[in-house]
Amino acid sequence: MIRCVLLVTALLPVTLVAVDARQAATKTTNSGVFTAAQAERGKKAFSEKCTTCHDPSRFSGEAFHESWDGKALKELWDVASGTMPEDNPASLKPQEYADIIAYFLQLNEYPTGDADLPPGASPMAAIKVEKKK
Ligand code: HEC
Repeated sequence: MIRCVLLVTALLPVTLVAVDARQAATKTTNSGVFTAAQAERGKKAFSEKCTTCHDPSRFSGEAFHESWDGKALKELWDVASGTMPEDNPASLKPQEYADIIAYFLQLNEYPTGDADLPPGASPMAAIKVEKKK
């Protein structure tokens, strides 16, 4: 990362400003962190694996914001991928959990972006849940 910044400094000061800004800002759920296609997959996985106990409304609107606002997506990831489905925890593929979280973001009308939300605690830790802009 440092090497990359140095290279950009040497060659393209204008680009550096853009890269720097992106790195400084913590990504949020308003940054376009999932795709519509991913949310579609997540909707299917959710309806197959989660709706025996949960209605989607459990993860949208006030219920969603009350639980997760101001927290990193990692906290939601840890609960979902570590403890759910309650009767068979961690039984889905990591990708399926990421897809389901993308579906939750879509339920809350966050903007989509160019790339899928990647599975894993570390990418999820870089994204903060905030109110929709
Ligand atoms: C056998 C029932 C059951 C199934 C199936 C199930 N859950 Fe849960 N889940 C619960 C219970 C009970 C709670 C705790 C009460 C609550 O928060 O609604 C919970 C809570 C959660 C929470 C925390 C909600 C919050 O705001 O704190 C998340 C996230 C979650 N479940 C995701 C999932 C996902 C994703 C699936 C499917 C992969 C799933 N659950 C399947 C029973 C279940």
